[in-house]
Amino acid sequence: MPSSSKSWAIHCLATGAVVAMGFGVLAYYRQLISFRSRVIGIIPARYASTRFQGKPLVQILGKPMIQRTWERAKLATTLDHVVVATDDDKIAEYCRGFGADVVMTSESCRNGTERCNEALQKIGKKYDVVVNIQGDEPLIEPEIIDGIVKALQAAPDAVFSTAVTSLKPEDAFDPNRVKCVVDNRGYAIYFSRGLLPFNKSGKVNPRFPYLLHLGIQSYDANFLKIYPELPQTPLQLEEDLEQLKVLENGYKMKVIKVDHESHGVDVPEDVEKIENYMRERNLL
Ligand SMILES: *[C@@H]1O[C@H](CO)[C@@H](O)[C@H](O)[C@H]1NC(C)=O
Ligand SMILES: *[C@@H]1O[C@H](CO)[C@@H](O)[C@H](O)[C@H]1NC(C)=O
Repeated sequence: MPSSSKSWAIHCLATGAVVAMGFGVLAYYRQLISFRSRVIGIIPARYASTRFQGKPLVQILGKPMIQRTWERAKLATTLDHVVVATDDDKIAEYCRGFGADVVMTSESCRNGTERCNEALQKIGKKYDVVVNIQGDEPLIEPEIIDGIVKALQAAPDAVFSTAVTSLKPEDAFDPNRVKCVVDNRGYAIYFSRGLLPFNKSGKVNPRFPYLLHLGIQSYDANFLKIYPELPQTPLQLEEDLEQLKVLENGYKMKVIKVDHESHGVDVPEDVEKIENYMRERNLL
């Protein structure tokens, strides 16, 4: 081999090695930075509800609640995919009509978490994080969705993330408003329907920053598979709060604090309240 082509061959080998190393380093960093990177948002929607039949399709200022929730979710930048999971043909048909992807789930799902899990199994694709976007919070900000996703990505020791906002003093003793206390690193300590923490005066301390739990949560996909199967726990049953099962079984939950006025639609009377709120703020 003439020396010039020999050095050329060595040059090529060296370049090849550098390029290969480069790819290796890149792949390594991609894995590092892409922890829990594949994210799906699931909106569980069932038709039958004891308190509010056909709730997902109720019109809020001329647009069904489920469509409003879906439109908000689509604006979240961390979600690779958004689907509606329902057991009802009418809801499915309607959602496909405005362009949503729909997964049919069985009527036997006992709660939103089980519906999310079943939907994830049916979709079959590999996702790392599942956001459970309750269809009854039609004014959910996409930033809150992104916030809980990023919190879970940044906390490998947590399997669950959720959000809280400031509790209004008038909601302090309302058992439907769930309170939360967190440690100084933002991990959940406890949730309760009672006032947390409790001041020995028995009254609301106007200076204490009480936290109200918002019904949006995200899970590590592997955790979601076992979550519905975890045995029910005493505190969960006593408070009737599903998320306590996570803490009682020793799992960690990351909580982010956000600025959000909660407008959950639980009963038909809530529709008018949220419509008034939207009219006042020109949210159409
Ligand atoms: C209880 O609430 C009052 C205000 O209502 C506050 O001054 C006090 O620091 C709180 N904590 C205790 C332990 O009393
Ligand atoms: C859903 O509800 C069922 C029945 O109340 C309960 O056993 C199960 O633990 C709940 N799912 C989760 C994820 O907690």
